[in-house]
Amino acid sequence: MAEVMTNLSLKQIEEKFLVSTKTGFLIDCSMVKFPECWSPFEEIAAHLKQYVEEKSIRRKIEELNGHLCIPEDKLQQLCLHKILTFLTSGYVWQDGENDVPKRLPRCVAVPLTRVSDALGMKPILSYPSMILANWQKKDMNGPFDFSNLNAMYQTPGGNGAEWFILTHVIIEQRFAPAIKAVIDAMKYSTEGQADDAALVTALNVIPNVLSEMCETFKKINGGVEPAHFYDNLRIFYTGWGGGKEPLPEGLIYEGVYEDVPKPMKGGSAAQSTTLQVLDAALGIEHEGEEKEFLDEVRDYMLKEHSDFCKYMRNESSVRNYVEHCENLDVKMAYNKCINAIQSFRKLHIHKVVQYVTTPSRRENRNMQVEAIRETGTGSTPYLQFLNQINKDTDACILPE
Ligand code: HEM
Repeated sequence: MAEVMTNLSLKQIEEKFLVSTKTGFLIDCSMVKFPECWSPFEEIAAHLKQYVEEKSIRRKIEELNGHLCIPEDKLQQLCLHKILTFLTSGYVWQDGENDVPKRLPRCVAVPLTRVSDALGMKPILSYPSMILANWQKKDMNGPFDFSNLNAMYQTPGGNGAEWFILTHVIIEQRFAPAIKAVIDAMKYSTEGQADDAALVTALNVIPNVLSEMCETFKKINGGVEPAHFYDNLRIFYTGWGGGKEPLPEGLIYEGVYEDVPKPMKGGSAAQSTTLQVLDAALGIEHEGEEKEFLDEVRDYMLKEHSDFCKYMRNESSVRNYVEHCENLDVKMAYNKCINAIQSFRKLHIHKVVQYVTTPSRRENRNMQVEAIRETGTGSTPYLQFLNQINKDTDACILPE
């Protein structure tokens, strides 16, 4: 029998879907300790940048012993996924698109696929491991901003890697108040519990949240230089397969999948749950290839977060309620949310042009990252994709 999920309390939602009204989708892994046996893996992940620069990363990884038990604890599993996917990224992309190994050694491939299966995630560096579970506060009582945060592990590629990660971490934290807002909006637009004043109050939180997210996003330029991002950082978030060189069929994970190459999408903030939840809560629909991509990237989220998106999609009748509501305040509050999402998506396109399109047109660009010149790290023909997502959002404005 299908589980009845309507009317879950906020606390039940936080527990069931691993979300928090304080930190949103972020997961605090800063105090997680591993069994001793994983220390050699941790050591390499902690020095990834250095070992990639020295070109010793492949030898060091090949010498590891991967015949180890996967921890039972979810946070330990997530940390293990993080460590193993950072190692994988360094191992594969050490020399850009040159000399790319076709196989990931068994000592990483086997534990990585096991822990990914346990988490319901994919065995590649993805948003939950690179961003959501990859931060720590310097001073526990200090503010949640650039000055008081560290990235626990960094991708190689030199300057800006940490700032890039922290920009996303802080944006996720700024999203946190929207969790309660979308749950309240859903509740106060449900038959039997409808309450226009409470609905307007809930919806009014969302534009403020998006405005804070935009303010943080603009700070990316303070620590990540666009051409350097394009030439040196981006390659480490790239996936494999889909006919794209240098691994057109995908990567062989030795000892798993019968040693047949596996395609995987690269890391992208398209795997963030934030915008997908807003779309779901407010009834913003995408179609065709865009919908297919957004559905597919949910497999790269934590299983609980992906379930939260589905929960909101199934349960929210906010848009339907607002469409049929005669209260102008409700319609205006809803439209303000759509406009705010649109502003975020416009800023996002502006940044994508600044950090990908413009640097990709330089004559002196890094020629060892040409395979991802025309596509996002998540593999879309990105401008066409993002423009269509924006049109879908625009189309949701309701007549007032
Ligand atoms: C310079 C920084 C960024 C760049 C270069 C960038 C690039 C891209 C690209 C190329 C895509 C298309 C999918 C793909 O092929 O990967 C995408 C999608 C997306 N990105 Fe970003 N991104 C950046 C920062 C962010 C941030 C900070 C967020 C906030 C969470 C974000 C959220 C999204 C979302 C939600 C999508 C899916 C489309 C949508 O729902 O609007 N991105 N990004």
